Amino acid sequence: MLGIFDSGFGGLTILKGILKELPEYDFMYLGDNARVPYGGRSPETVLGFSKEAVDFLFGRKCELIIFACNTASAQALREIQQKYLPQKYPGKNVLGVIRPTVEEAAKITKNKRIGVLATEGTVASESFVKELARQDKKIKVFQQAAPLLVPIVEAGEVGWRGTDLILNKYLKPLLGKRIDTLILGCTHYPVLKGKIRKIVGKNVKVVSQDEIIGRKLREYLGRHFEYEKKLSKKGQRIFYTTDYSPRFARLAKLFLGEEAEIEKVIFPALVRGKNKKLPTV
Ligand code: DGL
Repeated sequence: MLGIFDSGFGGLTILKGILKELPEYDFMYLGDNARVPYGGRSPETVLGFSKEAVDFLFGRKCELIIFACNTASAQALREIQQKYLPQKYPGKNVLGVIRPTVEEAAKITKNKRIGVLATEGTVASESFVKELARQDKKIKVFQQAAPLLVPIVEAGEVGWRGTDLILNKYLKPLLGKRIDTLILGCTHYPVLKGKIRKIVGKNVKVVSQDEIIGRKLREYLGRHFEYEKKLSKKGQRIFYTTDYSPRFARLAKLFLGEEAEIEKVIFPALVRGKNKKLPTV
């Protein structure tokens, strides 16, 4: 079983992309909807929540976990990989979305000027800046925190014309830096990529994680047979959320798309209260 963790619904955009590439694998998704958003929280808090998610997913037979959440990838992954896993889960691994995203962006850029749109926490961590420097020291990175975008997407207001105004506000400073590549460094932004591509125009290539993480994961599994051989392949999908609200069905469809089926959604042990089985979306 492959575990996918996100702070909430947003990671479903990443899962959707992964399912296109790896439909035969079994997936368990955990969205921490009770505590979303992570984007404005301290690194210590994000690390604590992320460890709980790791415990939850490894406790339910996941062999490998992907942090779909950029904020968790930026603020918690390194500590989890270097300290938590060797102590508690030797032989298991957790992967993030930042490294594969920067690999792609570094390949695409011609003028070596890359923009990053992300949550405040991700921007403050400088994870994209550090990882891009590892790819190529000559790359110049320009970051823009976009705290208003997650609430807009969660509220289902992607079509609202105010969204264009807000996108312009965030994108204009990056365009002013003559970037030729823009990284969408947050799970929610693939939902806005059509609008973003229109605003930035043809001369700026937009790197959207829903389009690349699946392929990168397939390549990773090709190189790491030690994990691949342990993964079950019955096309099973299990969804967990730490909170259920009437928004869930609507947003799950928005993020995941029509074609994927949600088999079950139950409250995990992360929050107190009785487990509850919820209807298929
Ligand atoms: N999943 C988060 C990310 O990709 C966005 C939502 C949040 O702030 O928790 O950064």
